[in-house]
Amino acid sequence: MCGIVGYAGARPALDIVVDGLRRLEYRGYDSAGVAIVCDDELLTEKKAGKLANLEKTLAERAGGGTADPGAGPLGIAAGSTGIGHTRWATHGGPTDRNAHPHRSVDGRVAVIHNGIIENFAKLRAELEDGGIEFGSDTDTECVAHLLAAELDRMRADGQPAGPPLLAAAMRAVCRRLEGAFTLLAVDAALPGVVVGARRNSPLVVGRGTGENFLASDVSAFIEHTREAVELGQDQVVLITADEVSITDFDGAPAAGKDFHIDWDASAAEKGGYDWFMLKEIAEQPQAIADTLLGRLTDSGEIMLDEVRLTDQDLRDVDKVFIVACGTAYHSGLVAKYAIEHWTRIPCEVELASEFRYRDPVLDRSTLIVVISQSGETMDTLMALRHAKEQKARVLAICNTNGSTIPRESDAVLYTHGGPEVAVASTKAFLTQLVACYLIGLHLAQVRGIKYADEVAAVVAQLQEMPDKLRTLLTAMEPVRQLAQDLRSAPTVLFIGRHVGYPVALEGALKLKELAYMHAEGFAAGELKHGPIALIEQGTPVVCVVPSPAGRGMLHDKIVSNIQEVRARGARTIVIAEEGDRAVLPYADHLIAVPRTPTLLAPLVTTIPLQVLAAEISAARGYDVDQPRNLAKSVTVE
Ligand code: M6R
Repeated sequence: MCGIVGYAGARPALDIVVDGLRRLEYRGYDSAGVAIVCDDELLTEKKAGKLANLEKTLAERAGGGTADPGAGPLGIAAGSTGIGHTRWATHGGPTDRNAHPHRSVDGRVAVIHNGIIENFAKLRAELEDGGIEFGSDTDTECVAHLLAAELDRMRADGQPAGPPLLAAAMRAVCRRLEGAFTLLAVDAALPGVVVGARRNSPLVVGRGTGENFLASDVSAFIEHTREAVELGQDQVVLITADEVSITDFDGAPAAGKDFHIDWDASAAEKGGYDWFMLKEIAEQPQAIADTLLGRLTDSGEIMLDEVRLTDQDLRDVDKVFIVACGTAYHSGLVAKYAIEHWTRIPCEVELASEFRYRDPVLDRSTLIVVISQSGETMDTLMALRHAKEQKARVLAICNTNGSTIPRESDAVLYTHGGPEVAVASTKAFLTQLVACYLIGLHLAQVRGIKYADEVAAVVAQLQEMPDKLRTLLTAMEPVRQLAQDLRSAPTVLFIGRHVGYPVALEGALKLKELAYMHAEGFAAGELKHGPIALIEQGTPVVCVVPSPAGRGMLHDKIVSNIQEVRARGARTIVIAEEGDRAVLPYADHLIAVPRTPTLLAPLVTTIPLQVLAAEISAARGYDVDQPRNLAKSVTVE
């Protein structure tokens, strides 16, 4: 939702913090701001809109372009302690006054925040009753005032001045907060110190030499250090240039989880592509290969990453629910076909935002598979917690090591897709599919439904996919041309059957979120029950066709559906296996994909739809990586 960076060291903090924010801007881009401690002054700057607006203001400030009474004797660029924030608005609109950091009334404390403080109305009323005038509509501002009051109280009580004071004050404030938060704070009276806290929202520490970092995710500091510490739930961390100290909210010493970041730093940059999304589409063959890496033991068994479930637990499973949001939900819809086919266990797929509210019937023999790229999606996290309260077992598929969802699950299979920066999910989707296939095979094997050699045969088919995808990605020029043709279409429909149906849903979602066009995905057989009335002369209909080598009936049925829409004037864009001659007479545009086993076909048929949406978005002049109203990680319900 929001991106957070903190720095304590010897170098100018402003550059480091702004660079970090640039890498975190995918988390929200409604406004950006920084607070830098320089000598014993606290200097802030914040601006509505993208980070570029803040950078422009900072450049003017550096060049003396604005007369800023708060510029300080050395200027904001000189301080070596700082925090920065890029916002996705929740409380209060995306304006300058609501941008973070928020300062205490005396201006000496600054706070940035990701999450929602659920009891903020009560806290605000209490502070206002005490005479405090608020300068924003945010929940965050309460924390700045509470923290300043706590520091005053502690100083008045004679507590020793020094870095631990800010951590102690933060702990006292956190104990009063309800909801989800990552908080960072600095105090003008304590130069060289940044304090952070987390509950239900991510925060990692980067350990440097003579400098330390805090951030929502490691991409913010990957160019400075690869040694990181993941903070646990309800912990407070204090960093200075030479120290990282962690406690729980009651002040007891605590430890985070140390890890080494092995991502390539260039993975977090655009690598020559116009948009991160195009780079991430191109990275999909490697992402799939990496996700498959080392999954088979010598005896042919599939390995998960973190397993706190026994084989007997998995043998006892009598129902699977897959729970996720958006694109991750679509990967679950594909998984249902594979899991039921391979394991014969009933499998339902649920939108996480609906799951707990309908009070599903769950018990110890229910397996919940939660899928999340970020591992922080609040809808999915809440569904997971609900499932655990009902004693169900939870297995997570996640791309973000150490994030909340895998940490709270009983078992984890990480997709090794690397950082996905574009808001629109691409490589996360394909790697989630691979992870789902592996889980389906693992279940089938543990339950004795598939032999090791049968599992190995499917894994071998999966291992062929990166090469197939590489070939397909070199043949996307016709899709780019088609995007130019379709850029002004008022509506685009997508149809598919079997695993092609979720692919149709995913194609439509991509077009909606990136090109702001009306797009709908349908099960092809459902068209005749209503949606076919939408078709007018020239309406583009993208048809996802299964392999003719698979279930023939399935293939024949969709060829009939293509004829039906064409007979009503549709312009058909047919995605079919190379050599599929049956579709040729009915395809106004044909996009051929490599031959692939039926259940694995979404790995290839999705790619042209991703490219189509990105290219239409670019052709319409939109920001492909950061579509309006969206954020990469949605940490509110
Ligand atoms: O991080 P998650 O996988 O939990 O995110 C779930 C959805 O918010 C996400 O897939 C969203 O639908 C994408 N922006 C779609 O491209």
